[in-house]
Amino acid sequence: MALERTLSIIKPDAVKKNVIGEILARFEKAGLKIVAAKMKQLTREEAEGFYAVHKERPFFGALVDFMISGPVMIQALEGEGAVLKNRDLMGATNPKEAAAGTIRADFAESIDANAVHGSDSLENAANEIKYFFNDSDVVSH
Ligand code: TYD
Repeated sequence: MALERTLSIIKPDAVKKNVIGEILARFEKAGLKIVAAKMKQLTREEAEGFYAVHKERPFFGALVDFMISGPVMIQALEGEGAVLKNRDLMGATNPKEAAAGTIRADFAESIDANAVHGSDSLENAANEIKYFFNDSDVVSH
């Protein structure tokens, strides 16, 4: 497996629940390293740009409203097979379908407030990390 980076966002619902540390600990315990991190209140424009691929979907407006409903914690994760590993840790988009022990099963309430975002491909990961971080903000260790 190759060393990869992926973008992770702890969404407003999980920040409000005060479980940032618990979620980050899961990444670290799984062998992923946090190589960039910041708290941020997204603007509507930033959230719309980030989810532009979903622009035509019926849930787009609600998704953007939710993503700007409070601050988020954005991080780049690095490790062997980081993209898939993070998706496995997150669990299914709908927490009702997420496997036991996954982040969404444990911390998410509904499909629209589902605790975390994670890049779904290596290509998207690179673009999403660039969307939020300068090269110099990402530090391997
Ligand atoms: P998607 O990229 O399909 O899921 P994932 O976050 O697991 O990669 O969808 C992006 C977000 O859009 C998802 O996390 C929550 C929201 N969403 C809804 O609110 N309703 C839906 O029916 C779907 C598919 C997604």
